[in-house]
Amino acid sequence: MSLARIRQLAKTTGFRLALWYSLIFISSSLLLFALLYFPLRSAIMEKDRNIILAKLNEYALQEQQLGLQAMLAEIRLEDDHNKQAGFFVRVADPTGQSLIVSLPPQWRELDSEFSPLRLSVVGTDGWVALPAKGRGDALEIVGRRLAGGYLLQIGRGSGERQKILEYFGQVFAGIMLPLVILGFAGGFFLAYRSLRPVRDLIQIVGSIDIGKMDARVPSRQTGDELDELVRLFNTMLEKIEQLLTGMRAALDNVAHDLRTPVTRLRAGIETALQSENTAEVLREALLDCAEESERIITMLNTLMDISEAETGVMKLRRQPIDVVSLLAEVVDLYQYVAEEKGLAVSVSGPSNLTVMADIDRMRQVVGNLLDNSLKHTPTGGRIGLNCVRQAEKVVIRVQDTGAGIPPQDLPLIFDRLYRGDHSRSQRGLGLGLSLVKAVIHAHAGTIEVESAPGQGSTFILRLPVDAPPQS
Ligand SMILES: Nc1ncnc2c1ncn2[C@@H]1O[C@H](COP(=O)(O)OP(=O)(O)OP(=O)(O)O)[C@@H](O)[C@H]1O
Ligand SMILES: [Mg+2]
Repeated sequence: MSLARIRQLAKTTGFRLALWYSLIFISSSLLLFALLYFPLRSAIMEKDRNIILAKLNEYALQEQQLGLQAMLAEIRLEDDHNKQAGFFVRVADPTGQSLIVSLPPQWRELDSEFSPLRLSVVGTDGWVALPAKGRGDALEIVGRRLAGGYLLQIGRGSGERQKILEYFGQVFAGIMLPLVILGFAGGFFLAYRSLRPVRDLIQIVGSIDIGKMDARVPSRQTGDELDELVRLFNTMLEKIEQLLTGMRAALDNVAHDLRTPVTRLRAGIETALQSENTAEVLREALLDCAEESERIITMLNTLMDISEAETGVMKLRRQPIDVVSLLAEVVDLYQYVAEEKGLAVSVSGPSNLTVMADIDRMRQVVGNLLDNSLKHTPTGGRIGLNCVRQAEKVVIRVQDTGAGIPPQDLPLIFDRLYRGDHSRSQRGLGLGLSLVKAVIHAHAGTIEVESAPGQGSTFILRLPVDAPPQS
């Protein structure tokens, strides 16, 4: 593994998590060590001291029962035969002069350090530890006054005890060290593995390009939080892709639909520019130009209205609207067209039904639906506009006995610039229903259509009775 790769790994969250876990584990182990070590040390020390005190009591009793000389003889005998069993024994007269000093073999080499002079500082009270230079252990001594002012001192080295404690430390370290290493390696492996979706996410986000939105993060179907994040991220990517595709298609449609009026506009201008034209031809050409310009402006304005309504930027001046009056007013505007085409248009509904909405936008909505019905209903047909209150909603229906809409067109009619095949002969931009839907959604309402070829169409609007707070 290269140095750069190791450095990169050290920066990963997996490595840091494992490091933190290991640090916590090491700290807990040290605490556990301290909790075991210190009680163990005092327990061994206690035991050692009890052994020394027992020896002290043994000599003191001998002195009491058999006299000082007998005790000294016993000590000497033990010393001569190296039978001190690791004990240091010293007896001093009342002036502090050593009568006998018996040192176990391992302390004899340090004899000079344990000179009678130095040992004479050891009193009768409490414990004294005389450290052996360069060896790490110490001679622990306790003393007692005997009859006649004599001093009896017994001591023992702390080497044994230290060996046990050292051994304990080594065993503890021997167990903990591999555990820490294993814990770190295992923790790193697990953290690195479980953070894999995040790395996949980073890789996919890095590879995303406007032209290449089809990449998805592989899901492991584990159902955990990271899997949920991956799922949400993929859903977001899907929505963005749909949005971009939709925008591209809308832009293509707009460009395509603008081409026809612009071409006609240019044709009109070219006609007008031909020098031999009479005033009459010129006037007609200019009228055509004005008409085409109007068409382009209407199209652009409607497209902008739709975008404003869809993005929530559209300003709605909400006011209470009497719904039946609104329907009657719009029907009035189209009365002439209806009569000319021989269509019967009727309005029905309760007179006290009001809705909080923008009156101009609602006129546009109802006007567009009525315009469609008028366009697609043959002579002799009927169109009905009706309103009713259902629970907290005002329901407006625009129903006709016209051509109807083929099932395959139903999901498309609300798309921008979409026009059904049977509408090619009719005027129109294919923007009416897109605007209706966007405006109704801006009013927190819904729109539905029920239609079948040859059986007419019904457009159903549902608006909340009270205006919801505008976001
Ligand atoms: N009442 C209806 N009966 C039959 N088809 C309809 C009806 N209303 C809408 N359509 C179909 O839905 C398509 C889209 O309607 P929309 O109102 O968006 O566009 P348009 O009427 O063609 O043009 P514009 O409304 O911009 O003048 C129409 O082209 C038509 O095919
Ligand atoms: Mg229309």
